[in-house]
Amino acid sequence: MRIDIISVLPELLDSPLNCSILKRAQDNGLVDIRLHDLRDYSSDKRHRRVDDYPFGGQAGMVLQCEPIDRAITALKAERNYDEVIYTSPDGETFNQHIANQLSLCQNLIILCGHYKGIDYRIREHLITREISIGDYVLTGGELAAAVMADAIVRLIPGAIGDEQSALSDSFQDNLLAAPVYTRPSDYNGWKVPEILLSGHEANVRNWELQQSIERTKLLRPDLFG
Ligand code: ADE
Repeated sequence: MRIDIISVLPELLDSPLNCSILKRAQDNGLVDIRLHDLRDYSSDKRHRRVDDYPFGGQAGMVLQCEPIDRAITALKAERNYDEVIYTSPDGETFNQHIANQLSLCQNLIILCGHYKGIDYRIREHLITREISIGDYVLTGGELAAAVMADAIVRLIPGAIGDEQSALSDSFQDNLLAAPVYTRPSDYNGWKVPEILLSGHEANVRNWELQQSIERTKLLRPDLFG
């Protein structure tokens, strides 16, 4: 899988993309994540400007069509993309189902919004999917891109050590995960549920499922809707 991220602040993504599971997945050739500085596609060689004032006189700046079009066109000339995603608070809300879908893609472009946003014509003509990571406004789309890349890449087979563990994550079956415990089984009188120490695999799986259902009813009843 390949993920191309276009941003005016690519350095904001360096650290989240180059640690832990995302780093290992790249080192192991499971995913190739490329950062592109939108300013490299500016026709303004001197100031590398990529934004301008909005028509209509509102406050703030808008990312211009040309550099974005050039960046996306250059990438599309090299390969086909499954989706050209724009990170925006207006988009559909990211969730595990979308992460699952996107983890099956071959090539993705993620365009990070900034300032007041991007010229709407780009959204009309080049963007195939707009995604928000929640109902709040970030300074830019970079952190949203990092969140999405993390959730997507960990689903690629082989990205996390124990493949079972991605399947038993919270949300994977629209259920929250069951509680987990580790040694010692008694910490200053705080005891691990007996059933987990029983060694009876079927009973343990059944207990986990019941816990998942109970916790989802209590904490996220909307997931049953
Ligand atoms: N850009 C600004 N806010 C955002 C959000 N909530 N999700 C995705 N991109 C954004």
